[in-house]
Amino acid sequence: MDSNRRSLLCGLGTLAVGSAMLGLADGGMAEAAAQKGERFAQVGGAFGWTPHRLDPKECAAVAYEGYWYKGYACGYGAFYSLIGLMGEKYGAPYNTFPFAMLEANKGGISDWGTICGALYGAAAAYALFWGRNERTPMVNELFRWYEQTKLPIYNPGDAAQGVKGDIPSNKSDSVLCHISVAKWCYEHKVEHSSKKRSERCGRITADVAMKAAEIFNAKMEQGEKYKGTFAVQPAVSACGECHSKGQSADIQKGVMDCTPCHSGSPHTGNKFKDHP
Ligand code: HEC
Ligand code: HEC
Repeated sequence: MDSNRRSLLCGLGTLAVGSAMLGLADGGMAEAAAQKGERFAQVGGAFGWTPHRLDPKECAAVAYEGYWYKGYACGYGAFYSLIGLMGEKYGAPYNTFPFAMLEANKGGISDWGTICGALYGAAAAYALFWGRNERTPMVNELFRWYEQTKLPIYNPGDAAQGVKGDIPSNKSDSVLCHISVAKWCYEHKVEHSSKKRSERCGRITADVAMKAAEIFNAKMEQGEKYKGTFAVQPAVSACGECHSKGQSADIQKGVMDCTPCHSGSPHTGNKFKDHP
């Protein structure tokens, strides 16, 4: 029996013995756990999995393939390339994860265009191993890289499943699916519902997986000292002089680059008036 399954069974055993001693029926188990402060206790502990080094190039190829698999898309592709590959090599607990769950991230969560699903997939994968204080610098590095890098970079060659050949790239300045996709479509005159746009997102899933894996390996090497290389965005530090915790106008949330939305660009002006 693998150790994860054993600890799961042991955990349940302890709980069952505990409730039996308290003379509770099955329905009383949750109540007993709550009373003992165990409600939120997690098998294996929180952020408790053991990390293994990743091969960033392999992650990129598998992320691209995962993006197309049954249309599960960006979040699934990125997450599977990190955790699924670990499962293929090391078995449990990595291969016990219900990977299809990550499909919810498609299109920035059920087509809402919020966070780029590939970024969420990577951040969620990090959280299997590292809690917030250790994980945030990893997420910062990945997200800042995404804002500032011309994407896509990855080219699957003959393995392309949407459109073969070169795909134009650009900088999104944003981690949001909506901005990232819309800017790219506008700049390169490509329709959002086209195969070419799907191909672009498949390749970006591979790019994110590759970067995420490099960050993962660096974190394993550097441990608590891990800091990342990208500096805070100029707008976030300038605007944050007043609009951040402890400052004079602490009324906004987040550390996304403020520029795409608050620069008063023609793109973010009023489209409800005098707009074709
Ligand atoms: C020197 C301090 C300071 C800096 C720097 C600053 N703000 Fe403000 N900002 C304020 C104050 C004060 C308010 C008014 C808050 C209130 O009414 O509660 C405000 C209001 C706002 C508002 C709402 C009102 C409006 O004018 O739309 C937005 C949006 C905003 N700031 C965005 C930004 C952005 C983006 C930056 C960086 C480019 C920035 N601020 C930099 C102090 C600052
Ligand atoms: C994805 C677009 C986007 C980004 C990025 C963004 N904001 Fe905003 N922000 C908004 C929108 C939309 C509102 C709500 C505006 C309204 O009230 O009509 C808002 C509200 C605010 C407000 C509250 C005042 C208000 O107008 O309602 C402040 C202050 C603010 N943002 C500052 C910032 C700062 C500082 C950053 C960067 C750290 C930032 N924002 C990043 C879109 C954005």
